[in-house]
Amino acid sequence: NEGALWGGRFADGPAAAMAALSKSTHFDWALAPYDVAASKAHARVLNRAGLLTDDDLVAMQEGLDRLAADVADGTFGPAESDEDVHGALERGLIERVGTELGGRLRAGRSRNDQVATLFRMWLRDGMRRVGTGLLDVAEALVAQAAANPGVVMPGKTHLQAAQPVLLGHTLMAHAQPLLRDVARLADADRRVAVSPYGSGALAGSSLGLDPAAIAADLGFDSAADNSIDATSSRDFAAEAAFVFAMAAVDLSRLGEDVILWSTPEFGYVTLADAWSTGSSIMPQKKNPDVAELARGKAGRIIGNLTGLLATLKAQPLAYNRDLQEDKEPVFDSVAQLELLLPAMTGLVATLTFHPERMAELAPAGFTLATDIAEWLVRQGVPFRVAHEVAGACVREAESRGVGLADLDDETLASINPALTHDVHEVLTVAGSIESRNALGGTSSSQVERQIDVATATIAEL
Ligand code: ARG
Repeated sequence: NEGALWGGRFADGPAAAMAALSKSTHFDWALAPYDVAASKAHARVLNRAGLLTDDDLVAMQEGLDRLAADVADGTFGPAESDEDVHGALERGLIERVGTELGGRLRAGRSRNDQVATLFRMWLRDGMRRVGTGLLDVAEALVAQAAANPGVVMPGKTHLQAAQPVLLGHTLMAHAQPLLRDVARLADADRRVAVSPYGSGALAGSSLGLDPAAIAADLGFDSAADNSIDATSSRDFAAEAAFVFAMAAVDLSRLGEDVILWSTPEFGYVTLADAWSTGSSIMPQKKNPDVAELARGKAGRIIGNLTGLLATLKAQPLAYNRDLQEDKEPVFDSVAQLELLLPAMTGLVATLTFHPERMAELAPAGFTLATDIAEWLVRQGVPFRVAHEVAGACVREAESRGVGLADLDDETLASINPALTHDVHEVLTVAGSIESRNALGGTSSSQVERQIDVATATIAEL
């Protein structure tokens, strides 16, 4: 088994099916640039520990730079005989600087601390890319909210007519969770930014290598406190996989609303041609596939999280080969989000809303009934009574086939003497919306405040 990282104690090479099962180059090649960068840092640490002469260090760095360039332009790639990215890159280094020098690099490190370190480096970059994409979607939502001031729409709970709200308030209700997801990524990064390098296979290094130095060199905040934990824990990956799943769920909820809003029954919005698809049989169709794929991808990304947790749950300390299964679900969640996020941004940015349709539907279903009840409370009526009275108004309006605002003064007085003509002040959609002006409410000034805060947050992140 030429070129393998182990073999001294083996008389026979692995069986073909063993090698096929073991192989990870088809996915862990994504770690190659990080592996070379970490090898360069490792060479410096070996040099400082007196295990690599200055001349050897120069030759090693030069060889690693050539290897990095060859990896980057595709000249060097995994061979059939390579088990994983680490073995392949050692082969590549030896091909460039010879067995004598190339064989020195591996001192004091194991693939166990290596892979845990490289996975963290890859993940930090992946989380940054996902975070940027999430901010783009949030920014598109904020821009739509800002571009549609004062546009009203039906607010729903249980998907039933509830109370009128501003479109901007609803759009911001989708932006807020995405901004929290970005904050979650930043928080998770504090735990990802701990370097396992120098932990060796599990017990740490005996060669006088400095884990703190290599951690700083690779841009980590610190080196791990416990070499067993550092090589065997993957809660950092599960935490990131959760944030990816949460973000996918948030995008799926947004997608679900867009799907409903774009149906003729709702008619709130028209999707841009560039962000919709047609049907191969029904010529009239314009389908919200971006939003549906957001919903679909969420299932897959949730699966990546649950699969990873299941992989981790029964592993004894320390490293077990099960851990090779940690990377694909996380890589996949990032890859799927990187496909989805720009499309969601495009979809949201190009939505054309229909204010007249939303305004027409906003009071439908007696959505101002709460306003009658709250107006009565302001006149000193207990809410319990006010709720009953407003309910009686709904019953009366419904039986006459009219809206609440159409009930005449006599009818109102007959329902309850406290119901004077002045109640009409709150029986408009605009009046209802603007009266909800406490912090976080749907009034124009509260929505403007939210837009300002979110804009500042996005600029900061
Ligand atoms: N390819 C492995 C992984 O992804 C790292 C190699 C560790 N192998 C070992 N026999 N200790 O986890």
